[in-house]
Amino acid sequence: MKELDRNAPVGVFDSGVGGLTVAREIMRQIPEERIIYFGDTARVPYGSKSKDTIVRYSRQIIRFLRSKGVKAIVIACNTASAHALETVQKESDIPIIGVINAGARAAVQATVNGRIGVIGTVGTIGSGIYTEVMQQMRPGVRVIGKSCPLFVPLVEEGLLHDSVTDEIASRYLAELKGKYIDTLVLGCTHYPLLRSTLRRLMGDDVTLVNPAYETAIELRELLKANGLNREMPAPDGEEKYQFFVSDLAEKFTDFATSILPNEVKETKKINIEEY
Ligand code: DGL
Repeated sequence: MKELDRNAPVGVFDSGVGGLTVAREIMRQIPEERIIYFGDTARVPYGSKSKDTIVRYSRQIIRFLRSKGVKAIVIACNTASAHALETVQKESDIPIIGVINAGARAAVQATVNGRIGVIGTVGTIGSGIYTEVMQQMRPGVRVIGKSCPLFVPLVEEGLLHDSVTDEIASRYLAELKGKYIDTLVLGCTHYPLLRSTLRRLMGDDVTLVNPAYETAIELRELLKANGLNREMPAPDGEEKYQFFVSDLAEKFTDFATSILPNEVKETKKINIEEY
């Protein structure tokens, strides 16, 4: 691994606004770090696309983030973690982590009856990666996956508290309700934004796992282990958190402001196909 600047920012990316749930957790848990966020809003959703396409998109985004001098990258997207993490990790000389190991770890620790539900995109659920990882971590655990393809467009449209979302969520979750799960992994970074609806529909007996929390812990440990954690907190200001998208920058700015602790003043639009 080459010599890296420990004061450089961390790169975080997703297909759109979902990764902000991970960025928000990093801001809470490691407030001294700077973040460069990229949301691929021109090409969202990722969940219905092939592995080859997601690997190509991830490589382009990593090249873009590298051009900004990041010291480490968090793939704040389950679909890209499922399809591309292994490939891009092998190609990279900086640390890259995804969200799936963190979510799987939290779920196998949380379950009492060993029955875990996972909701995610068609790509993530179809890859079977959560089942594989959780069964490695805790053999014998039973994993029931359910893809919820309409959740990402609903979140991207800002319909977080809407009767349409309620109706769709109750149909998707009906299948999981008779399966006696005691833990449900929100296996798409957009889904924590639907948390109150999911909580109401699943009831208080099911633990909801948001992999963002564990991912931020994993990032903090990874930076420390590689001597890449900042020694001095980054000064507050426009440079501390920077946001880039591939389309619709203003819409992104409004959304990000509504869910992050501080106002997002500006989002820059870039042409990701150039990378
Ligand atoms: N938020 C992403 C995930 O965690 C991507 C969703 C999508 O673009 O379909 O899978």
